[in-house]
Amino acid sequence: MVKISRQIRDRRRLRGPLGYAAGVPLPDNFVGAVHHCDNLELLAKLPDASVDLIYIDPPFNTGKVQKRRNLRTQRVTGDEPGDRTGFGGRRYRTEALSTTAYDDRHDDYLAFLEPRIAEAHRVLADHGSLYFHIDYREVHYCKLLIDTIFGRDNFLNEIIWAYDYGGRPKNRWPAKHDTILFYAKRAGAHVFNRDEIDREPYMAPGLVGPEKAARGKLPTDTWWHTIVSPTGKEKLGYPTQKPLGVLRRIVRASAPPGGLVLDFFAGSGSAGAAALDCGRRFLLADNNPEAIATMGRRFADRDDVAFFTDAPTPT
Ligand SMILES: C[S@@+](CC[C@H](N)C(=O)[O-])C[C@H]1O[C@@H](n2cnc3c(N)ncnc32)[C@H](O)[C@@H]1O
Repeated sequence: MVKISRQIRDRRRLRGPLGYAAGVPLPDNFVGAVHHCDNLELLAKLPDASVDLIYIDPPFNTGKVQKRRNLRTQRVTGDEPGDRTGFGGRRYRTEALSTTAYDDRHDDYLAFLEPRIAEAHRVLADHGSLYFHIDYREVHYCKLLIDTIFGRDNFLNEIIWAYDYGGRPKNRWPAKHDTILFYAKRAGAHVFNRDEIDREPYMAPGLVGPEKAARGKLPTDTWWHTIVSPTGKEKLGYPTQKPLGVLRRIVRASAPPGGLVLDFFAGSGSAGAAALDCGRRFLLADNNPEAIATMGRRFADRDDVAFFTDAPTPT
């Protein structure tokens, strides 16, 4: 059933679609704003150099519709039918609640990205950074494209986000990482809050002494972090939802406190939630009504997050 979420509708009435003046990246008294639109439309309205950090996780061009089925598993007893057996031989029945999806098919992927990356470069402040999240099949083409817009000298890191979940093919190494390309608008002038970054345990704590071992080390460019667990509290049921642990690390390192974080391929809004957790503000955009509905649920208890949407949104 498609109906307008009441909360989103009320906030829309408050403000109107894309309804604030150019030159003001966020409406007064709001720490975050969510836009339902093609991201080029929002980008075109943002002033030059008005954003501190951009994180984007564009569709990966898999050629498929990305889907996530949202399931409920219930324990059954006696003769009731079940379709799974769990720990201790207990039987469970799985019920499909809904399917969330977005289209991930692009005939000319780089032509789709190019104007968006050019706008990202324009709206970033001089001290700003871009984190571009992509999978191993597209990253090499995207790197060449982004180098031409940001300049090779402003490329700072290829971050490998490594996880370990899901299927294992029999004839090659299981692909269990995504790549995040990290660029500065102007390398050297960019924000990097080293002291705010979460630390990790040393691999060989015995080699560094107790004090250093207790403090832990700064992460390298390889980040081990589990995916959003399909059964965990963080899960919102949106396909390709990224973990808050990864997003918080990016926000803390590369946005100044109170700074503005932009994600214009927002999906479930993980970048916005990380910005709030870390005392930053955010602007999000997505053109999929299901993403807007998911963000409506994510920010349901926040009166200081504005929604700009004209389209009916599934709840
Ligand atoms: C990989 S998902 C992002 C997932 C997100 N990082 C998260 O943690 O939930 C990519 C998103 O880009 C959105 N998208 C694709 N093309 C778009 C466009 N032209 N304008 C706005 N959003 C777009 C899709 O609807 C999808 O939600």
